[in-house]
Amino acid sequence: MRPLDRLLAEGKFFSGSVAASQMGVSRAAVSKQIARLRKEGYLIESVRGKGYVLVPRFDGLLPLEILARLRTRVLGRNPTLLDTVDSTQNFLRGLAEQGAAEGTLVVALEQRSGKGRASRCWSSPPGGLWFSLLLRPSLPIHQVSILTLMFGVAVARALMLHGIPASLKWPNDVLVRGRKICGILLEASSDPEKVEYVIAGIGLNVNFSTADLPDEVKERAVSTLDILGRRLDRAELLSTILMHAEAMYEGLPSSISGILDAWRLFSCTLGAPVTISSYGRIIEGKALDVAQDGALLVETEGGVEKVYSGDVTIKSTT
Ligand code: BTN
Repeated sequence: MRPLDRLLAEGKFFSGSVAASQMGVSRAAVSKQIARLRKEGYLIESVRGKGYVLVPRFDGLLPLEILARLRTRVLGRNPTLLDTVDSTQNFLRGLAEQGAAEGTLVVALEQRSGKGRASRCWSSPPGGLWFSLLLRPSLPIHQVSILTLMFGVAVARALMLHGIPASLKWPNDVLVRGRKICGILLEASSDPEKVEYVIAGIGLNVNFSTADLPDEVKERAVSTLDILGRRLDRAELLSTILMHAEAMYEGLPSSISGILDAWRLFSCTLGAPVTISSYGRIIEGKALDVAQDGALLVETEGGVEKVYSGDVTIKSTT
């Protein structure tokens, strides 16, 4: 990171002369750089005798505003903000192929063709929190699905901190009041030996009303704005999600049991009668548990089945 960016991202006052000496330029050159950053949208205050300080704007998602709020060591430490993009997944894959570091983050204000699971479209209007995160986990490929459950737990915990009671529907949905508030999409590049990288995409409905979504999705969707009736600071929410995710991610693979226990606590799937559509098959039964590799164990008429992927419908018992 450039010295001036680092000073600003720390969120503390620093003097023009400290910045000048770290940058190896004159104080006039520092104030020119500050003027350029202000033009980009940053709110940088200057106080006589104290120097400059970055003041993150409410809901500001510019890279230094994200960095100023981050409480992680790795995840999110290299952020890019795009006004619009087809999909943050595709954009980040390009960076991953060029060797981008673990934790690289791409956030978009809107996506033109956001990707959901099973090649579905993901509506991504302005106001949502749409991001992809690059991971280079040292996990065998058959355990990568754990990361979907891990991000579900991280999102549910972050929402709880805002007083929003979330539940998790296997494998990748975060629900509030039975409606989807967040979806998680994991795309991995691997060879038979090891996982090269994983792109974890998270789409969280935040500062827009789901009444404005297309008809086919709005009945099943909900946003934090719908629930709270006020806007949330997306950078803060992002930072909280990443903080929870990193706490679990750092401990892998030994944290798997803890991740599964946390997932079970938030689950609205376990114990319920379910219908699962998986690779063209319909599986009916009772969701019993999640296995160590993230698969769902379902008690069917023919015995316990291990389901690795699919769309779950929770059957109403009333
Ligand atoms: C799903 O529930 O089907 C997964 C939805 C994942 C959406 C996110 S938004 C950020 C990232 N970029 C995409 O194109 N998709 C994911």
